[in-house]
Amino acid sequence: MKTVSLNRKKQTEKDAQRQVELRESGRVPNHIAIIMDGNGRWAKERGNMRVFGHQAGVDSVRDTVEACAQMGIPHLTLFAFSTENWMRPASEVNALMQLLIQSLRKETRKLVENDIKLVAVGQLERLPDKCHRELLEAIEITKDNKRLQVCLALSYSGRWDLAQAARKISEMVINGEVGPEDVNEELVQSLLTTNSIPDPDLLIRTGGEFRLSNFLLWQAAYSELYISKKYWPDFRRDELYKSIESYQKRERRFGKISEQLEKKDMRQVSAGV
Ligand code: FPP
Repeated sequence: MKTVSLNRKKQTEKDAQRQVELRESGRVPNHIAIIMDGNGRWAKERGNMRVFGHQAGVDSVRDTVEACAQMGIPHLTLFAFSTENWMRPASEVNALMQLLIQSLRKETRKLVENDIKLVAVGQLERLPDKCHRELLEAIEITKDNKRLQVCLALSYSGRWDLAQAARKISEMVINGEVGPEDVNEELVQSLLTTNSIPDPDLLIRTGGEFRLSNFLLWQAAYSELYISKKYWPDFRRDELYKSIESYQKRERRFGKISEQLEKKDMRQVSAGV
C-alpha cells in the first residue's frame, strides 16, 4: 500500500507499529468526527491573538488527516466553522476564511497525491466568494479519490441540517411525492446534507468541554464520545490513538442488552477489520 505523507516528515517505524497494533487490538472506527475546540484558549495562554491558535490548529488537522489515511479509516469529518461562528468578531471570521483559502491552496495537491477526497457540508453559499470557489475547486479536483474522505463542516449546524431536511419533506408532501405517513427516520436521514456519509462511530471533542455545540445532532445519536482535555493545536496522532483505544473498549449496544449482541455485530465491524 502506498505510504501517506502530508508532512515533509517520514512516518517513524514506531508510529507505523502503533497503528498496526491498534488495528489488531479491536475494531477501528469507520467514521471519526471531530469538534476542534480550544484554539482561542491555546493562543490566549501564550499571550497571543486567537487567530494564532487557529493557525496552529492547521498542523493538527494535517497530522490527524495523515494518521487516519495511514490507518485506513475511510471517513473523517471536521467541524471547522459553525453557523454560530458567524457571530464572532469580523476580524476573526475573516482570518478563519483566509486560513481556509490558504490551507486549500496549499494542501489540495497533497490530498490528490495521497488519494484523499474532500467534501463539505453546511451553508456553503454563505462563505465569501473566493473561499467558496476555492473549496468547490478542491472538491472537484479530489472527487475521484478513494483512500479517505475528509468532510469539512463549514457554516454548518445540526439544527440547520434538520430544518433544511424538514423543508424538503414539506415540499415533497405539498407536491404529492410522499404522504405524511411516509415520513420516517429513513426519509429524514436521506435528506440530511450528510446523507452520503455513514454516521460517526467516534465523536471526539477537544478542549475539555462536554457538549455537542450543534454539531451532528441526528447523526451522532449512537456515536461514542471522547472528550480530550487537549486544546486542538496540541492534538496530535497520539491523542487520536488514545481516543481509538477508548473506543475499542466500549460495548456498542444500540439500545439492546449485552447478551443480544452477536459476537461480530455488523454495525460494529469496521472497514477492513
Ligand atoms: C474552535 O476553537 C475552532 C474553530 C472555530 C475553528 C477551527 C479551525 C481550524 C482548526 C483551522 C482551519 C481548519 C481547516 C479545516 C483548514 P475556539 O476558537 O472556539 O477556541 P476556544 O474555545 O478556546 O475559544
